[in-house]
Amino acid sequence: PSAELARAESLILEIPDYPSEGILFRDITPLLADGPALRATVDALIAPFAGRFDVVAGLEARGFLLASAAAYTSGTGLMPIRKSGRLPRPAGTVGYALEYGTAEIEAHADFAPGSRVLLIDDVLATGGTLVAAHALMRELGYAVAGTAVLFEIDGLGGRAAIDDPALHTVFHS
Ligand code: PRP
Ligand code: MG
Repeated sequence: PSAELARAESLILEIPDYPSEGILFRDITPLLADGPALRATVDALIAPFAGRFDVVAGLEARGFLLASAAAYTSGTGLMPIRKSGRLPRPAGTVGYALEYGTAEIEAHADFAPGSRVLLIDDVLATGGTLVAAHALMRELGYAVAGTAVLFEIDGLGGRAAIDDPALHTVFHS
């Protein structure tokens, strides 16, 4: 990795016991706060997929921060994948399990059928969120061109759960 990327990684903070006891939270806001680090990270996030996607989809909420930058620099459109109840024209809904309870994600179908979508999120933990995103893309008739995540937490099974040969993570624990 470049020196810039190594410096970007050093800006990610580990916050113990947030948001609850026993969770080691990865706080990426100092990385976002640093212009060169943010640029190097977004560039690294999308590099393996250059020219192979038509749309960038970001997962609410922290995925939005990276996905819009990725779409802008790629010259593609942006698809917000939102928690349920926040979009006026949901074309599909997929549920998934959280540590406590369940959640649902939705998206609009404003792209051509078969569009190649690059899914982006900040953190991969159990993989529940991104597995649901893959299912949602299938439901909407889009092709997943790849899955790109800023930080992969090892040992929680996320990589196996997603089962996407085109899973790319920039940093990992
Ligand atoms: C966090 C994180 C990922 C997801 C990873 O989002 O931003 O989206 O959890 O966990 P998983 O791999 O076990 O699904 P969260 O739902 O906490 O909400 P936020 O992005 O809206 O802050
Ligand atoms: Mg999230």
